[in-house]
Amino acid sequence: MNERTAPRGKASGNSNIGDIDARRREFKWNRARQEAGLPEGGPFNIGWLCTDRICESGSGEKTALIWQSSTDEIKRFSFDDLRRYSNAYGRYFTDLGLDPGDRVAVFMDRTPDLYIGFLGGLKAGLVMQPLFSAFGEEALEQRLRNAGTRAILTSRKLAFRIRKIRDKCPALEHVIIIEPGDLQMKEGEQAFGIADAEPLDSFTCYEAKEETPSILHYTSGTTGQPKGALHTHGSLPAQALTTKWVLDLKKDDLYWCTADPGWVTGTSYGILGPWSLGVTQLVLDGGFTVNRWYEAIQNHGVTVWYSAPTAIRMLMKEGIEGAGQFDLSSLRHLASVGEPLNPEAVIWSQEAYGRPFHDTWWQTETGAMMVTNLPGMEIRPGSMGKPFPGITAAVLDEANKPIDEPNKPGQLAVRPPWPSIFRAYWEREEAYKSKFVNGWYLTGDQACIDEDGYFWFMGRDDDVINTGGHLVGPFEIESALLGHEAVAESAAIGKPDKVNMEVVKAFVALKAGFEPNRKLEMSIMNFIRKKLSPLAMPQEIEFVDKLPKTRSGKIMRRLLRAKEWGEEVGDTSTLEDD
Ligand code: WT7
Repeated sequence: MNERTAPRGKASGNSNIGDIDARRREFKWNRARQEAGLPEGGPFNIGWLCTDRICESGSGEKTALIWQSSTDEIKRFSFDDLRRYSNAYGRYFTDLGLDPGDRVAVFMDRTPDLYIGFLGGLKAGLVMQPLFSAFGEEALEQRLRNAGTRAILTSRKLAFRIRKIRDKCPALEHVIIIEPGDLQMKEGEQAFGIADAEPLDSFTCYEAKEETPSILHYTSGTTGQPKGALHTHGSLPAQALTTKWVLDLKKDDLYWCTADPGWVTGTSYGILGPWSLGVTQLVLDGGFTVNRWYEAIQNHGVTVWYSAPTAIRMLMKEGIEGAGQFDLSSLRHLASVGEPLNPEAVIWSQEAYGRPFHDTWWQTETGAMMVTNLPGMEIRPGSMGKPFPGITAAVLDEANKPIDEPNKPGQLAVRPPWPSIFRAYWEREEAYKSKFVNGWYLTGDQACIDEDGYFWFMGRDDDVINTGGHLVGPFEIESALLGHEAVAESAAIGKPDKVNMEVVKAFVALKAGFEPNRKLEMSIMNFIRKKLSPLAMPQEIEFVDKLPKTRSGKIMRRLLRAKEWGEEVGDTSTLEDD
């Protein structure tokens, strides 16, 4: 997939990381707290480290958050505001009877309450469970039920969606609604949020240890429903240090991470990384338009920008002229994550913004960046870079042994431990165990390593669909499809898309009495959009009489996918009726 072009010149400037070779040689994770400027013997509570500690170091008055709403209203919050309002949240959660370790979901658009409530929950020792605000009923129910979530913080708009599934989530005692207005509250619903709360000057944070659970992020796999990757308070050195060395954040930067905290990038690098370093960040709620994004960079003076290939491809469509209409000269460092970053995008960004996007590779499970292009490192467009200092990565052969030969593809694997590695899939112990073999964590991605140690992404090792940087599990879509009255069985795959890399395509066999037509296609599409999310909605439905299956009855998505991508179909010897 990755086209290789000649190595490009070095990125310039005085980077935080400095001498990369020396860092690699000397790196020890047990010194990471110190390197990241975190207190060594504790406290470890992330909520405290990202707020109180910054205030104690004299930066209380500094702006932590510049928030721009979907209607372009702007609000600013200092680190002291974050500290006192997250205290108020911590107190509120505790008074509600929530205990350390309880799962509390945040389910709303990118409002200040999401960020502050999240930190407040961490302060109270709760396990915070971010849920993407576009999730529909079924996606929501799955995740709330699996986690046994006790409370959910949400907005008025989304409270209606929760009401529809409330009966099916017996553990869910409290629905906390920010700014409910004149909404008639039902049993178990109550109002709380920074609009009405008194900021609280002191709150005794839960004394988290390094192994205390902190965040539960759901991620999709090939089989079964999404799994909850559990992280700990001890993860922070990994996020802080990668933010310092890869994103190169310095105290006067204005940083913009475009990801939503419903996905791991939006928490690890949209909350934990920047605020643990006391850096000001922009949060832009609402939808993407090229002009809106460029205006945000120009008007706020964004210096460091962490985004995703799909967004970059959308910006590329507007051409260099599109970028030229704005003053983007504040930008000094760019990074990308979530999907393969096309070599063209790296070269284009150099031309459009005067600097290249630095690709980074990681996953929900790894909690922090693993393979990166460090500032100052020679960038090979199309390559994910090299393992971060202290990280050992390899590609493994079929027997799960490292492949020594350069440029030979295998499964990308990382050697544990590192501080931010996930500690469990919530109540899915077997699935968790199966990710570790021969002392390696298996990533489920295919990659190869070139002669000089650069890593190149080749594709996924499984059937998970990556649409615009968001993983969607085919099984999740297929199960939801069964809820539609016309669907007998189905297979969901990713089909190629110029902007989103992949979009969902579903093959559907209908029940007797239903005729394939455009109206039915629309009805099925909308059904999934509402049940799961707009991301999971098939962009195309192909009606088929039956699906290709193995003799044991497993749907062969691989075959459907290969056809879609114009690839070799490969071994079909296990096919049902070949
Ligand atoms: C999967 C992880 C971690 C942040 C967002 C996604 C794909 C991620 C890259 C990259 C090619 C990438 C992989 C990976 N991916 N970064 N730089 N190049 N592919 O987290 O939802 O857990 O997804 O996203 O397939 O396994 P996630």
